[in-house]
Amino acid sequence: MFTKNYFLTLATVVVLAGCQGMPSEKPPIHPNPNMDWQEKFTAQAKNPFFEDNRADRLPIEGTVARGQLAVDVAYHQGVNASGDYVDRIPVTVSREFIERGRMRYDIYCTPCHGGTGVGDGLVIGYGYVPPPSFYEDRILEMPDGELYSSMYNGVRSMPSYRHQIPVEDRWAIVAYIRALQRSQNVTESDLNRLGVDPEIAFESTELRSINAASAVQ
Ligand code: HEC
Repeated sequence: MFTKNYFLTLATVVVLAGCQGMPSEKPPIHPNPNMDWQEKFTAQAKNPFFEDNRADRLPIEGTVARGQLAVDVAYHQGVNASGDYVDRIPVTVSREFIERGRMRYDIYCTPCHGGTGVGDGLVIGYGYVPPPSFYEDRILEMPDGELYSSMYNGVRSMPSYRHQIPVEDRWAIVAYIRALQRSQNVTESDLNRLGVDPEIAFESTELRSINAASAVQ
């Protein structure tokens, strides 16, 4: 009895182990097929049901994915019905919103525009066209929608960032750029409102702008 069992076990082990690493033309044993062999059309497959014989179908014209109905052009494209840039950010701006903008700006814009927005980002030293400073009058005076458009459409040598940055974040970045610009153009009334002594404020910062300095003179 013992010998019989012994040989039986040995034979099983040899048979099972013998299959290891042996190449075979046949598909492996598949004890639980689940839905592996269901009938289906794989990508690029043929389907004679349709006139063009393609199994891949385009969505029906006018189909909009859930959450992607961009009817609000001001919000999505930064322009009004007549195609002009909107003057103001079309969402409520809060401190958190600007903070979010700072975070996104630091990720997506600093490589070229630099941390302060003067256009001295890291890649500029490697032959990339230097971007303009955000403190140029032309950009200070731009409507908010135009700043937004630089990300949505790109501008001349700057590529569009619409696929990397979602709509809400693009507006948050606009808000942050406005905050940066404001920070370099502080007026005396701003300082008074915040209870800051202008003498001390401008003494202690390297980044004082001509505007701000002249405002306190
Ligand atoms: C790969 C480098 C690069 C990155 C990243 C980049 N920019 Fe630019 N940006 C440029 C260049 C270059 C210009 C100047 C384009 C020109 O005038 O040809 C520019 C111009 C601009 C302008 C001025 C547009 C005008 O009308 O003159 C704004 C505003 C701007 N960028 C915003 C942004 C914001 C916001 C981000 C981050 C989301 C960003 N950029 C990221 C390279 C970049």
